[in-house]
Amino acid sequence: MYRIREASLADVEFLADVTLTATRAQGRLAPDFDEADWRGGFEEWSRESIDDPATDLSVIELDGQRVGRLRVSRTPEAVELNGIQLHPDVQNRGIGTAIITELQAEAAGRGVPLELHVERDNPDARRLYDRLGFHKTGEDGAEDVMQWTHGTQLWNAEVAKRYDTPGTGMFAADVLGPTVDRLAELADGGRALEFAIGTGRVAVPLAARGVPVSGIELSTAMLAELRTKADETAIPVVVGDMSAVRVPGEFSLVYLVYNTISNLLTQEEQVACFRNAARHLSPGGRFVIELWVPELRRLPPGTPATVGIADPGYILLDTYDVLKQHVVSHHFHFGEGTQAELFRSPHRYIWPAELDLMAQLAGFTLESRHADWSSTAFTADSPSHVSVFRLATT
Ligand SMILES: C[S@@+](CC[C@H](N)C(=O)[O-])C[C@H]1O[C@@H](n2cnc3c(N)ncnc32)[C@H](O)[C@@H]1O
Repeated sequence: MYRIREASLADVEFLADVTLTATRAQGRLAPDFDEADWRGGFEEWSRESIDDPATDLSVIELDGQRVGRLRVSRTPEAVELNGIQLHPDVQNRGIGTAIITELQAEAAGRGVPLELHVERDNPDARRLYDRLGFHKTGEDGAEDVMQWTHGTQLWNAEVAKRYDTPGTGMFAADVLGPTVDRLAELADGGRALEFAIGTGRVAVPLAARGVPVSGIELSTAMLAELRTKADETAIPVVVGDMSAVRVPGEFSLVYLVYNTISNLLTQEEQVACFRNAARHLSPGGRFVIELWVPELRRLPPGTPATVGIADPGYILLDTYDVLKQHVVSHHFHFGEGTQAELFRSPHRYIWPAELDLMAQLAGFTLESRHADWSSTAFTADSPSHVSVFRLATT
């Protein structure tokens, strides 16, 4: 079991040792590296950090032995991971991941991002941060600046207030009507659970149809909007991450619509989401996903972005990182003047084939895939799909 404790002056030499050992094991010391000179500077910096109230310099212990160094700064705007080094003997045991996950939880709780710098010659660290959902936001000398933000920062009170557009857009009767009809049919007389229930765009009319609906939602601001339409007894909701939290009871249908599985930014989290759906379903239960088909055919080599919509007053620009399967949608709203409002949402896009494999990993098989909620045939040109995955009946 690891433990993090405040560093003292007695740890200064160890902190230099472990940093040096970890860096040397990664083969990242320059041929002309001057150890004595480096130690002098590093130990001085450690002593200053111990005295600095804005910085927490810590020792990581495993079973009572010192095995690593952690330096974190906390500002009103962010949690900053300034450094984490583990002795090579204790690497690859999940300690680094566990510590960073704890820092993510702290940042999420405070509603601020978790930021860090990673040297471009440190691919192991970079892989870990990519896997944990960090995004590159800039460069600083030989380092990339990376940031992790929790979904609740995107879906804040301002966005939640503007989300509902009764009668138009995603709230139009010709969008919602077929959605609710199909979900009621797929619930097959049982209880339904909506992952990322939001303001209840679908859950409220589905519940009104007589289907008992529960939900999971990360954003309390979105949930507050739902609560203006349905109380806890009508639509119970657990606040948390749809890839992890458990809702009491058993369901015949779990559904995740409006492209929202792509809000999970790593393949790991998306697979965990499938597994979490399976955990809530009775045998033969269904998991329904509505998702767009990635528009990579619109992206010629060397072109990092596509214009999705260019209407008077609204432009949608999608920027791609094809290595990470990430697309950031930039929604610009503007009027006649020079001011514009920007809402930006990052997604991990998924091919239908990858989605099917995620389903398979969680014990599902594909029951049907259509281009929309009215069972239009899905073709190579369909821009999105409604996929129904089913657990085995026994
Ligand atoms: C596009 S809205 C969809 C809301 C609703 N399902 C609908 O169809 O209108 C995305 C919602 O997903 C929620 N969300 C994003 N990531 C989530 C996560 N990991 N777990 C639970 N909810 C999440 C957001 O807070 C937001 O309410």
